[in-house]
This record gives sequence, structure tokens and C-alpha cells, in this order.
Amino acid sequence: MADRETAITAEAASNIAFVKYWGARDLERAIPENRSISMTLTRCRSICSARFEPGVASADEVLLAEDGAVAPAPAAFRARVVKHLDFLRATSGRFGRIRIATRNTFPAAAGIASSASGFAALTVAVTRCLGLSPDPSQLSGLARRSGSGSASRSVLGGFVEWPKGYTEEDCYATELAPAEAWDLRDVVVVVERGPKAVSSLDGHRLAATSPHYRARQALLGPRLAAVRRAIVDRDLEALGPVLEEEAIELHLIAMSSRPPVFYWRPATLTVLGAVRALRGDGVAAYATMDAGANVHVICEPACEPAVIERLGALPDVLEVIPDRVGGPPVWRPGTEL
Ligand code: DP6
Repeated sequence: MADRETAITAEAASNIAFVKYWGARDLERAIPENRSISMTLTRCRSICSARFEPGVASADEVLLAEDGAVAPAPAAFRARVVKHLDFLRATSGRFGRIRIATRNTFPAAAGIASSASGFAALTVAVTRCLGLSPDPSQLSGLARRSGSGSASRSVLGGFVEWPKGYTEEDCYATELAPAEAWDLRDVVVVVERGPKAVSSLDGHRLAATSPHYRARQALLGPRLAAVRRAIVDRDLEALGPVLEEEAIELHLIAMSSRPPVFYWRPATLTVLGAVRALRGDGVAAYATMDAGANVHVICEPACEPAVIERLGALPDVLEVIPDRVGGPPVWRPGTEL
């Protein structure tokens, strides 16, 4: 058991979904309507320090560590974190004050899953501080309860599947293949830096109002099977079209929800066109988007330079972040943020 007064700093990476979690059976506990499959990244990560002061009754401290300075987190984020801290304290049976300081290496709330990496890192750091030693399945279930369902995938490395689960006990993600199994790249094309107008939580809430929602559910079985097989076979030509069709359908459902939700920006379409043009030139690259305007371009190492060069040169592109498949979270005792 970790010394409960020692700070723990954990790092976890974001993930990009190949088959998306969109729509929940129980949104409060993030029990999804459908299975999802993702790839854990490495460069887009969150770093979170936690310190537990057993028996101290004063309020938790929730800080954002940005640009070398540490400042109190905005109220909405603080409330979300404290709710998760309360859940983790109750799970451990230990009570006291917790200090949290967290930062991201990439733009927050912009279609790169910062809540996934953030709540994965926080769950790893806090469970260790509280003296819990969850195995990967338990950790995934605990991270899920942050409300960021995709955090349940970011506590694992490589290629990850999160089943829909029917109860608290069977709703956790597992590794399909480790990062070493396939050196896949994700060139994150940033066209928008600000926070998205509609949160994923609201998107999940509205999803079932789309007339296309049930139709997608019916298509997911073969799609999941195709993605699993493509990962085993390291077959990008099999994976690519499926991940593109899955991304388009997520946004089709969002755009046809009532009221509709538009995450795309004009630049999103420009990038999607450029990815198709790259393919026309023989560069095997495929695009996917989460709930945001930014585009993740999946390719193998040989094609990565061409993808970075061509997409990075587009006038509407603010930044490209070359990322790749990565491992599970890491943590260490000692210095806090
Ligand atoms: C479109 O409820 O996990 O990214 O916490 O904001 O990451 P965040 O959202 P969450 O929903 C994720 C929605 C998605 C698809 C996916 O990652 O599976």
C-alpha cells in the first residue's frame, strides 16, 4: 500500500475511438448502449498529482497546472472532480481531504479526449493515494464512474475494447492487443482550439432522439468484428474504411438529434477532403473524429511524413500533433504539480 500522505503523480494518454461510444443506457454511471474499440495514444496525455490527507475534513483542492502556474479549477470542473473523489473515497472506505493538480499536454475540450486522459490519470493517482491497488479491470470500472466513459479505455494501453456491460460488475474495458502489436500513427489535425459548444454528455443524452440511432446499433456487430480482425491482422486497408464510416455515422446521429448538434467546422470538411486526396495519391490514411471539429488521421509510419506535410500546410489547420499508439498509465510517488 502506498503511504497515504505521499503525493502520487500519474500520467495517462488520451484515446481515439475506432468504434464510438455514443449513447448511454445509464449516463450517470456511464453504462454505454454499445461496445466501443479505441487506440490509446501517447503524446496527448494528462498528468495528475494527488495527495491524500487522512482525517482532514476541509474541502478538497482542485487545481489546474498550466503554463508553469497552478490555479484553482473552474467551478464546473471542480464539482465534477469532487464528485469522483467522493465516489473513490467511499469505495476505499477512507476519508480525508484530497489535493488534485492536473494538466494536459494538448488543447483541452477540443475533440481530443481530455476528459478520458484526465480522469484516467486522476483515477490512477487517487486510488493509489487511498491505498487501493485495483487490477486493470477494476481500475477501468472506477475510471468509468467519473462520467467520462472513454476514461475507462484510457486506463489501458494499446488497442482496447469496452463492452456495453449490463451491470456495475461487467462494465469495464479490456486490452485487445498491446501497443507493440501494431505501430499505428494518429496525426491529430487541430482546426479548433476552444471548448466544443455541446459536451459529450449532452451529445449522449440526445443521441437516441436521432432517427438514425437504432439503425447504427444494428450495424455495429459486423463493424466491431471487422475492427477486431483488422487489429489482429494489422490490416489498415480493412480498418480504414470502417473507422471512417463509423466517424461519419457518429456525426450523422449528432446532426440529426433533436435539437441537432454540429461539431464539424468548415475546416473539418477541408481536412476530410485532403485525406481523400492523399489516398488518391497512394497515401494510405483514414480520418476519424470524436465529438469535436478536429480530425484524427490514422496511418502507418511510412505514410506519416506525407500526412503531416500535406495536412499541416492547409491554411485552416492550426497545428498537427503527430501521435501514436501508446501504453497504459504510469505513476510514481513524490513531487506533485
Ligand atoms: C465521441 O462521455 O467518454 O469521443 O468524457 O468528453 O471524452 P469525454 O466523453 P465520453 O464520450 C466519448 C464520445 C466519443 C466517442 C468515444 O470516445 O468512444
